[in-house]
Amino acid sequence: MFTPRISARVRAIKISATKEMPMIAAKVGGCVSLGQGVPSFATPSLVAEAVLRELAANPAAGKYSLQPGLLDLRRAVSDLIAREKGFAPDPDSEVAITVGAMEALLCAVCALVDRGDEVLVPEPFYPSHVEQIVMAEGKAVLTPLRRSDWGLDVAALRAAVTPRTRAMLISSPHNPTGAVFAEADLRAAAELAIEKDLAIICDDTYDYLSYDAPAFSLAQIPEVRDRLVGVGSFSKRYALTGWRVGFFYAPAGLMAEMLKVHDCTAICAPTPSQHAALAALHAPESMCLEFKDELRKRRDLACARLDALAPIVSYVRPAGAFYVMARFHLPEGREMSSRELAVRFIHEAKVITVPGDAFGPGGASSLRLSFGAAEEELNEAFDRIEGWVRREFGK
Ligand SMILES: Cc1ncc(COP(=O)(O)O)c(C=O)c1O
Repeated sequence: MFTPRISARVRAIKISATKEMPMIAAKVGGCVSLGQGVPSFATPSLVAEAVLRELAANPAAGKYSLQPGLLDLRRAVSDLIAREKGFAPDPDSEVAITVGAMEALLCAVCALVDRGDEVLVPEPFYPSHVEQIVMAEGKAVLTPLRRSDWGLDVAALRAAVTPRTRAMLISSPHNPTGAVFAEADLRAAAELAIEKDLAIICDDTYDYLSYDAPAFSLAQIPEVRDRLVGVGSFSKRYALTGWRVGFFYAPAGLMAEMLKVHDCTAICAPTPSQHAALAALHAPESMCLEFKDELRKRRDLACARLDALAPIVSYVRPAGAFYVMARFHLPEGREMSSRELAVRFIHEAKVITVPGDAFGPGGASSLRLSFGAAEEELNEAFDRIEGWVRREFGK
């Protein structure tokens, strides 16, 4: 029998715990999920209808698009960036449509990272950021976020720079902490990137989902645009996770290199999904405002339910995205790893969460909870957690 020899590159990476926990839960059955980052909303009907119309009327809608994406969509993305980041990338040479933000990130990492190159990644981190760097044979250098508020610690970034540092990968609003980084800290990080001549990968997947004030992005700083790859997603803002469509913008020279990766991994983003993205961009603003308002209410609900679990649980109130890191302070002698806790939650409380240590040392003793689920499901999950905590610790 043939035994494939798996490449060292792939042996070095793993499937993220976000996806592993639902697989364990599927065997247990009857679980409610605070796990994966999926907003509960269905595809907006005006998006679904626009795609059906397009497929019926336009034979090209079911075929490959141009490799960087439909020109109309690239134009619409450029308009969006102009409105929100203050400059309009050239739709012809500086914008491409990808298979989700994930593929855009992969294009950026493959184009920028050579074997042994270091990329600064604030920690707790989004696991796929690190896995992509490892897959490119680079080194993700983890720099801790401030533990008090999960803010961007620019002194920690600075201390981690070496002659091998090539880039920083910054994402705000942030997964898994829900932090929205302060403008002053992002400006200081931009200055560091200029001073040390680093590229910036700016993952703005959650940029719209900032509940208390608009999120500032590194992409809004003109001085770093020549070194910045901006990454965007239709998944969260428009509730289109399954359509797998995102985008990146970058200076034309870098873009041309990134497109080589895009070509040999995906050819193009799925064309029907590009039509979905175009319809979403043309939809009235009220559509995504409603999603955002609903998620803000769910954030408040999740925080209120967590408050009721004090002092066993503490957390930093998330200002964006739809995650909160819930830290468990277990009684002495009852400590367990976050993975053990997450697995026990699945078996004994029938609630899916993600173990915090999957996101780096800052996630130890914590579970990442997503509040993307509908209110009823959130309440059910927290009722179960509360019951488990009471049974286990007599709280
Ligand atoms: C920080 C971050 N970046 C990128 C992605 C991938 O998004 P997409 O669905 O657009 O590929 C996610 C998904 O959860 C994410 O949390």
